[in-house]
Amino acid sequence: MDPIANPLAPAATSLPRIGDPAPQFTADTTFGTLKLEDFKGSWVILFSHPADFTPVCTTEFIAFAEIHPDLRKLNCELMGLSVDSVYSHIAWVRNVKEKMGVEITFPVIADLNKEVATLYGMINPGESKTETSRAVFIIDDKQVVRAIIYYPLTTGRNMQEILRVVKALQVTDEHTVATPANWEPGQKVIMPPPKSAEAAEMRVAEEGMECKDWYFCKKDL
Ligand code: BEZ
Repeated sequence: MDPIANPLAPAATSLPRIGDPAPQFTADTTFGTLKLEDFKGSWVILFSHPADFTPVCTTEFIAFAEIHPDLRKLNCELMGLSVDSVYSHIAWVRNVKEKMGVEITFPVIADLNKEVATLYGMINPGESKTETSRAVFIIDDKQVVRAIIYYPLTTGRNMQEILRVVKALQVTDEHTVATPANWEPGQKVIMPPPKSAEAAEMRVAEEGMECKDWYFCKKDL
């Protein structure tokens, strides 16, 4: 179908998916002009919010600021984004500090021309043609997209889940393991399924391995 005839049709450009290089950009932010490539070597959580001076977004900004020290311990930085101007962002961030007593310690991108939002597919026209959804892109230290989470406009994000995903990905990278449902740091991790009959045999005999069956083994780190 012709995308001009159907404004809700998906954009023709390909959007980043898990495992893809994070699309590069240069953007005006509350911390001045920043390039994504400047963050190489750190993990980055690039997240969008619908609009400044809105209540759910305010609760989220406060909550992101609260987890920022924990993220920094994981070598992970935060970058917010909406289609508001840098002046609006500055005014809102000042208001959050004045009225809520919380300092916003991360840059906020002023994506007035929707350049970054379009690059990352942060606008879901079926939900809103003008505002960015609550998108979260977890980008690793090599600038590869590792996780993508979308929440609707009306649902504030769960910061503990975002923090948990960063921790799980870092544990996965360090130990070549996977993490089970509802995993929290300190709990047993999952061994990826063995790729041969011989590996399956060795797996179940391995010391410290807790196997329900050859394909389902857990261990402590
Ligand atoms: C909010 O942040 O409160 C909000 C923003 C857009 C739609 C609904 C709620």
